[in-house]
Amino acid sequence: MSESKLIPPHGGKLVDRMVPEADAQKLKDAAASMPSITMSAKQVCDLEMIGIGAFSPLEGFVGPDDFTSICTNMRLSNGTPWPIPITLAVDDATKDALAEGKQAALHHPDGTLMAVIDVTSIYAHDKKLEIPNVFGTEDEAHPGVKAVVDEGDWLVGGPVHVITTEADSGDAERFESHRLPPAKTREAFDKLGWSRVAAFQTRNPIHRAHEYLCKCAQEICDGLLVHPLVGETKPGDIPADVRMKCYETIIEHYFVDERTMLSVMPAAMRYAGPREAILHALIRQNYGASHFIVGRDHAGVGDYYGTYDAQLIFDQFTRDEIMVEPLKFEHAAWSNRAQGMVSAKTFPKIQGDQIFLSGTKVREMLARGERPPGEFSRPEVADVLIEWAVNAAAPA
Ligand code: ADX
Repeated sequence: MSESKLIPPHGGKLVDRMVPEADAQKLKDAAASMPSITMSAKQVCDLEMIGIGAFSPLEGFVGPDDFTSICTNMRLSNGTPWPIPITLAVDDATKDALAEGKQAALHHPDGTLMAVIDVTSIYAHDKKLEIPNVFGTEDEAHPGVKAVVDEGDWLVGGPVHVITTEADSGDAERFESHRLPPAKTREAFDKLGWSRVAAFQTRNPIHRAHEYLCKCAQEICDGLLVHPLVGETKPGDIPADVRMKCYETIIEHYFVDERTMLSVMPAAMRYAGPREAILHALIRQNYGASHFIVGRDHAGVGDYYGTYDAQLIFDQFTRDEIMVEPLKFEHAAWSNRAQGMVSAKTFPKIQGDQIFLSGTKVREMLARGERPPGEFSRPEVADVLIEWAVNAAAPA
């Protein structure tokens, strides 16, 4: 096969920490006599991301030098950009059973043995360093801050050997046919002849502004990777299976099949705004995307971040450091006067003319079985959401 024209993975090499099937049984037998760590939902997501190479160049959970360097400097200790520490936090009792230089078994909350970690470091979880640096706030009303506050006071660092990414209980929807690891999306892009690939991160049902961003990106790239985050999200966010139906529906009706790929991204959401935008971009570079869409308040929550902070943060890195190119979009919405999607960059008389609807208002409409205006949401997508919202609103 001819050499790939795709962007290289972040750090140069796609990591693969999945244990080959032939070696799995031996490791499982050995794990039976190792101390055990039961992971949180977020850690289960992170483990999969490391295993499949989506977090390349990370080969495991970070040690103390990388932790400090990431928090203070947005870089690994070797200087490679990395914005959010990927940590394995444990409580006192778990930590007491571990030893540096030994291995530990990583279990899903349902008991499934998922991986083994070579424990290279055990160190105090410096939440006072992590929280303000990563989230820009210490307010525990922020869901990402609260998640770190609630984590254990010790961190375990070291490379992982991932036996499986799927729990035995099978309770979480996996979207198996859309769950392509980075090596597979890269293979698919090569096959399609795409080298300029734009990736779209989302954790919400797709609306007209999202669609507009995606199509602008398609105009200047060979293809689009619609790449919804399906790992852990906060209560109140719309479930991933409902969102997936929305993406499938809009692609079926409004996108060009040959130029659009839908695949899922199994990371947990941190709501860390600017720093998470960098993480999202680097992840997509690993999946083979050369361009990455960053719109208004990317990965934000509440009022913690400025509207375009997640775009400005890219200026702190050179193009050699972060190769994937951010496609920065202004706040876009439908304008009645322009009869199309516009932003302050493209339409002069924007004030008071655009159609904005709050999430709360849209939810209320959907729960009443009403479609939001077509300028806000495609009717086919609205119908998927109505079906979900009406059921969700009905008394059990
Ligand atoms: S996010 O947490 O994944 O950022 P969401 O799914 O709502 O949330 O957004 C996906 C992407 O679309 C992000 O890059 C976000 O900045 C962008 N975006 C969402 N709505 C708009 C809009 N009206 N105008 C411009 N960009 C937007």
